[in-house]
Amino acid sequence: MHLPSPDLDGLPDGLAPLAPLGEALADGTRRRVLTILVRDGRAYPSVMARELGVSRTALSHHLNELRSNGLVVSTREGRRQRQELSSLELRRALHDLVSVDGSTAGHGQLQAQDPLTRAESPIGSISPADEPHDPRPVLLVPSRIASTHPHHEPRALTAEQRAAFRQIARLSRSTKAAALAGTGARPLHEVNQPALRPVDLMPETPRRGLQALSLFSGGGGLDLGFHRAGFAHVASFELLQDAAATLQKAHPDWQVFGGAAGDVGEVDWRSWRDQVDVLHGGPPCQPFSVAGRQRGQLDPRDGWPAFVRAVRAVRPLAFVAENVPALTSRKFAAYVEQVITGPLSRDYTITRMLLRSEDFGVPQTRRRVVWVGFRRRRQAARYTPPSPTHAWTPPGEPPSGLPRTMGVREALGLPDIGFDCLSPTIRSTLTGPRHTTSILNSTAAQRVFERLQVWPNGVAPDRERARAFVAANGHFRLAVPDVALLQGFPEDWPFQGATYMQLGQIGNAVPPPMAYAVAQSMAAALT
Ligand SMILES: C[S@@+](CC[C@H](N)C(=O)[O-])C[C@H]1O[C@@H](n2cnc3c(N)ncnc32)[C@H](O)[C@@H]1O
Repeated sequence: MHLPSPDLDGLPDGLAPLAPLGEALADGTRRRVLTILVRDGRAYPSVMARELGVSRTALSHHLNELRSNGLVVSTREGRRQRQELSSLELRRALHDLVSVDGSTAGHGQLQAQDPLTRAESPIGSISPADEPHDPRPVLLVPSRIASTHPHHEPRALTAEQRAAFRQIARLSRSTKAAALAGTGARPLHEVNQPALRPVDLMPETPRRGLQALSLFSGGGGLDLGFHRAGFAHVASFELLQDAAATLQKAHPDWQVFGGAAGDVGEVDWRSWRDQVDVLHGGPPCQPFSVAGRQRGQLDPRDGWPAFVRAVRAVRPLAFVAENVPALTSRKFAAYVEQVITGPLSRDYTITRMLLRSEDFGVPQTRRRVVWVGFRRRRQAARYTPPSPTHAWTPPGEPPSGLPRTMGVREALGLPDIGFDCLSPTIRSTLTGPRHTTSILNSTAAQRVFERLQVWPNGVAPDRERARAFVAANGHFRLAVPDVALLQGFPEDWPFQGATYMQLGQIGNAVPPPMAYAVAQSMAAALT
């Protein structure tokens, strides 16, 4: 029998948010995974796979689906991944819909099994009235930190984690307040006078009639390098308002599009067609970085399709694209071929190179993969990737013959303690799960900073405040201009926004001296 289609015009689709749940409930294994999570509050894949009688691979597939639908969240606990429903409301709603032992609908049918929840408590213990009494709450609640970036993913924390962070923050606030009121520990050192001058690494080249268009401009690492190498920017596009404001403040005469107007996914590029020599950009690296979840094209931050679309629409003589080296790993080989190099190689001869920041005088270990493409064969044939201009040699080793890259302590002008080395890679987060004023990337990095006697957390907005706010272990507290310098920015580059936002712009950037070397190599082939 044929039923006429109902007329849905004007009827609000209020149940649309339940669609992912409907999809999940249509699959028997996923229903059982959800059952366990409603019943136990949290569970680990190995235990779940055993209980369900499925392989770890099959379970992992189902968990991925549930996570991408926003129903389940996972948190690393040492070598294990704890799985939980994404909210207390969801757990409560599922429990209220049907008893999770399958017998009857309603409350209080099931005993909590997870030793981490109260063994005697029925699932009704997650009712609001009981929550404050639970000594070991197990459910995650989303961070309440206000988001300032459309791609910011607030981190979900357990109540215990949130309490611990709050306590640290309270302690840190009161120590800082005492320091700034002059009643804290006495400052241990004078304001440091850096020895490194990043502008000396990028001697300004006279304008040479070359025009650049900047996409994903961030706080301006690539833009600054290209500018000092003699390129004039016709426009810069950046989604993040604070980062666009940085660039506009540094160059009030530039055409900077920020916020929604800077969203490269929304720009009609036709007016720039055949107008620029080089289009450059570094789409967000978080979808590919080993420090992230490496979700690649499934990550909403993936900007490569928009970059490729812009190059194909603008038809510059050449393009420069940069990212984290992880993008060249086998995991992303097919992605790079299908989304980036495949489409671009129809019109461009492409060279790929791996660059190290210390080879250009930057006192930091940082690797970047850079693709350059030339539309004209003659220019492509003339192209030579940049050669190192500097070299880092640890104290006591024979000099390389190139000018020496300074270590952190020397670059920042700190007293000699008999040890110096390059800074570990500065953390590059901005859209990640947590706002932070730490530049730490890993525990290995923490060990290096300890040897350097530099405190990498709680970076201060300026050197006066860094000096006043003595780190508990007496190590040198960094200020934003110090971090800028370790990334190769002039220390007075006018980063805008809150401290974590300024650090995010720095950590996301291509070190300007590296960008400068790339720009010089492009100019040599184009002119
Ligand atoms: C890796 S950073 C680029 C850093 C920049 N190349 C530099 O050297 O300073 C990527 C930037 O892209 C921005 N972004 C992300 N999605 C964007 C979009 N759709 N349109 C414009 N900018 C975007 C981010 O806010 C971030 O600042």
